[in-house]
Amino acid sequence: MSYVASQDRYDSTPIRRSGRSGLQLPALSLGLWQNFGSDRDPAVQRATVLDAFDSGVFHFDLANNYGPLAGQAEITLGRILREDLAAHRDEIVLSTKAGWDMQPGPFGSGGSRKYLVESLDRSLGRLGVERVDVFYHHRPDPGTPASETARALDFVVRSGRAHYVGISSYSAAASREMARLLRDLGTPLAIHQPSYSMMNRWVETDGLLDVAADEGFGVIGFSPLAQGMLTDKYLAGIPEGSRAADGGSFTTKALTPVVVERLRGLADIAARRGQSLAQLAISWALRDERMTSLVAGASSAEQFTENLGAVSHTSFTAEELAEIDAFAVDAGIDLWEAPRMGGPLPPYTARGRDPLAQTPVLG
Ligand SMILES: NC(=O)c1ccc[n+]([C@@H]2O[C@H](COP(=O)([O-])OP(=O)(O)OC[C@H]3O[C@@H](n4cnc5c(N)ncnc54)[C@H](OP(=O)(O)O)[C@@H]3O)[C@@H](O)[C@H]2O)c1
Repeated sequence: MSYVASQDRYDSTPIRRSGRSGLQLPALSLGLWQNFGSDRDPAVQRATVLDAFDSGVFHFDLANNYGPLAGQAEITLGRILREDLAAHRDEIVLSTKAGWDMQPGPFGSGGSRKYLVESLDRSLGRLGVERVDVFYHHRPDPGTPASETARALDFVVRSGRAHYVGISSYSAAASREMARLLRDLGTPLAIHQPSYSMMNRWVETDGLLDVAADEGFGVIGFSPLAQGMLTDKYLAGIPEGSRAADGGSFTTKALTPVVVERLRGLADIAARRGQSLAQLAISWALRDERMTSLVAGASSAEQFTENLGAVSHTSFTAEELAEIDAFAVDAGIDLWEAPRMGGPLPPYTARGRDPLAQTPVLG
């Protein structure tokens, strides 16, 4: 059936400005890391994207390697853009990234100018667009000078391949350095994408939000539901078909009895606020206005609709916050810590391109 966008799509979801840039984002954005590969139902993928757009979610987050297979999520969204959303391209914020493993060889990963620019050209081809709105360096690469990565990001804007640039999983100190390099080149850093949830609070202690406010870039937290941990689905076991049951990026080892008790404590607080646990997690992660947006995933349109119900309920009493703090404790689930701490890039693995692979590439 041909799609007609809802007329009141901008009426309900709040919009926040990314730092001191012109970029504005819906408070909740849709991420296509998982659930948009060739292993999922295209009708569900289409409904999830179009329902989100109808609700004012005009930002879709991708990376070169999202799939499976690597690249497939960009192909999926490219098809939906072409078939359903062509009339709205100018309203939509498309983001993609390069930095994690895409292909074997020295230019299939990292932060070199060659990898970043060649990869973005491939992403544009898969998406079927002339430019993206935000292009990110997906993780720090200690093997490439930050000045080279900065010049590559500056080039993609000057050459018209992207309107804005961002970085992901950089520490506060490395972010400040990248913001300075980019400012000197005349292309401001618009946004940073760190992992952030009730079970992974490093941005609060590392000082990233303070650096962001100081340097003028926005912050969009990814995996605000801790890959689904912060929902009602794991309170009584591991349901079939869930991400944890798939044995990929979300290991069931993270669901220790202590963690499940904390999740139950949080679910009780959510119930008292008239929210689901997922909604509490989203509301809480948006409580600081310096958090421009959150990028959440969904395996169905219904999940995303439920999560969107949280974006206008972001105020908490001091008592609620204190009670949440007792349960919102780091659960050792930050898969992105090693590169942030300056660790070397691990050797390339062919997981992303192997049709038989079960394990999704890191997002
Ligand atoms: N920059 C980076 O390095 C990086 C890394 C990772 C992710 N990201 C971005 O962040 C996005 C989100 O990551 P994520 O998928 O890990 O985020 P998430 O929002 O923490 O988890 C999404 C998963 O939670 C479950 N879920 C969502 N809503 C639910 C609900 N209402 N009830 C029950 N279950 C629910 C679904 O799991 P089931 O599939 O089990 O139903 C869904 O796939 C990615 O798509 C990507 O765009 C970026």
